[in-house]
Amino acid sequence: MMIKLTKVTASAPGKVALFGEHAVVYGYPAMAGAIDRRVYVSVEERSDDLIKIHAMDLSVPGIVLTIGGTGKDVAVETDYRRIMDAVGYVRKAIEVTSNICDLKKGVTVHIRSEMPVGAGLGTSAAVSVATIMAYSAVGGHALNSEEVSALGHRVELEVQGAASPMDSAVAAHGGILLIRPMLREASLTPVKAELGLPLVVGYTPRECGTGEMLRRVRNLRDAAPESVDSILCSIGKVVSEADSAMRSGDLRRVGMLMNVNHGLLESLGVSTKKINEMVYSARSAGALGSKLTGAGGGGCMISLCPDREAEVMTAISVAGGTAFISSISSRGVCIEKGESI
Ligand code: PMV
Repeated sequence: MMIKLTKVTASAPGKVALFGEHAVVYGYPAMAGAIDRRVYVSVEERSDDLIKIHAMDLSVPGIVLTIGGTGKDVAVETDYRRIMDAVGYVRKAIEVTSNICDLKKGVTVHIRSEMPVGAGLGTSAAVSVATIMAYSAVGGHALNSEEVSALGHRVELEVQGAASPMDSAVAAHGGILLIRPMLREASLTPVKAELGLPLVVGYTPRECGTGEMLRRVRNLRDAAPESVDSILCSIGKVVSEADSAMRSGDLRRVGMLMNVNHGLLESLGVSTKKINEMVYSARSAGALGSKLTGAGGGGCMISLCPDREAEVMTAISVAGGTAFISSISSRGVCIEKGESI
């Protein structure tokens, strides 16, 4: 007999886009990996029909948002845009899961993140898939990772207006995935990286969110379709070459291709002066490769730097960023804890 759970905590990993961000939105392949920092979402059943969201530890002071049964906000105790963005994904994840599972429950949601939010580490997808997993479990539904990944993608599409399946797939499945959005079958291929992939992540606050960065690339493409399409196509080719370099364990080649990918992202206008300084400082300190990761406009960059982690972290800090070591994690979305009354 299935025990009725009244409080469930689910967690999902953040991601680094190793190769192919932005181009993946236009159907080209990308490669991304789950990292060892996670977002935790606890969903607890309420006796009324309110949805109350507590977003704590999201790099800025916590907030409480209460949503009435009608879906109308009744109390917002913050004006921080980044937090409101994270809350928007939670609201949409609950709405989408309610519709799919035919579920209508008032719940209290607590969100906690081990990484900067809205910075290119896929936290919106991680928050979405963890909410979907926890909310559906409180409603007695056991969704598998494919279902959670597909629903997470829907949430991102509806909130941002455009999104590839990359972030939601990595948050749901974990590990490193080669994402080929144009292929219906085998669109997600795990990449076995026995190489360990020693990465340093550098962070600087973002000037604007993923949705705005996607709009900028779309506008650039509308203004110069042939040039921009050839850049997107070149990014797709870098991803294919990176896939074989990863499979053969050739870290030098992986790093070199990261540098090429960064140059192509820069030509799409999504990097910033600060990110470029962090990228170049990391290379000078001995990184094999270094690039922006995620949508850009600030946010995060990654460096592949085996045995040079300390030097590269210092170089990123001197360039004005906050650096941390990250490793790839095979753990996708999962239930951490379920409690019944
Ligand atoms: O910055 P993030 O973590 O939201 O990543 C966005 C990655 C893009 O390729 C730019 C968009 C997408 O949906 O794949």
